[in-house]
Amino acid sequence: MRPEVAVRRIRADEWADVRALRLEAVSDPAAPLAFLHTFEEESAHDDGFWRDRAAHAADSDDAAQFIAESDGRWVGSATLLLREARTVDHHGRAVLTRRADVVGVYLAPDHRGAGILGRLVDAAGDWAGARGATALTLDVHRDNERARRAYHRLGFEPTGVTFTSSIGPEIEMRRDVAPAPRASGDD
Ligand SMILES: CC(C)(COP(=O)(O)OP(=O)(O)OC[C@H]1O[C@@H](n2cnc3c(N)ncnc32)[C@H](O)[C@@H]1OP(=O)(O)O)[C@@H](O)C(=O)NCCC(=O)NCCS
Repeated sequence: MRPEVAVRRIRADEWADVRALRLEAVSDPAAPLAFLHTFEEESAHDDGFWRDRAAHAADSDDAAQFIAESDGRWVGSATLLLREARTVDHHGRAVLTRRADVVGVYLAPDHRGAGILGRLVDAAGDWAGARGATALTLDVHRDNERARRAYHRLGFEPTGVTFTSSIGPEIEMRRDVAPAPRASGDD
């Protein structure tokens, strides 16, 4: 029987696991359409970078990384970033209203198609909702068909905002923090 998958926020002392999963993600064949940073860039960071990243994502009130864990192995991740109004986000766009952005979404290939993404996004939504957010936003590459469909299934819709990031044409999608998910084929 397949082990159960647990979804939870990371702890600060798990920085080496954070690094390992990120390096796995940026090595994935889908990475050029999925992540803004390459394996070369991510593998160049020292331990202090990963310690700081993990501490922030574990304990701060503006970032939270959620992971899916199966029998001790990290098999997926999604990070929620709360961005205050009037800051500038990673594509140079002004953030005019407070935003709750889902970033760094990844599932290990052998754990895709199993509903884990929905659990990660729900955990991120619960966390953001408890801090006053009413909606989740995310950016997805126009040609990342699998991710677009997965997000659509979870209730995300294009906002109409499109832009070009360092990996190419992207669309912004949005959903309420906790909507009713769509059934398969319910378009
Ligand atoms: C994106 C990702 C998190 C989606 O999770 P998932 O568990 O694989 O999602 P699903 O298997 O439920 O697939 C979602 C949809 O894509 C479809 N799909 C599956 N394989 C596909 C493929 N090769 N090409 C296009 N669509 C595909 C599924 O049929 C499903 O569509 P439906 O809901 O209309 O039936 C996961 O695939 C992943 O980690 N990909 C690599 C990293 C990545 O792209 N991250 C997102 C960055 S924005």
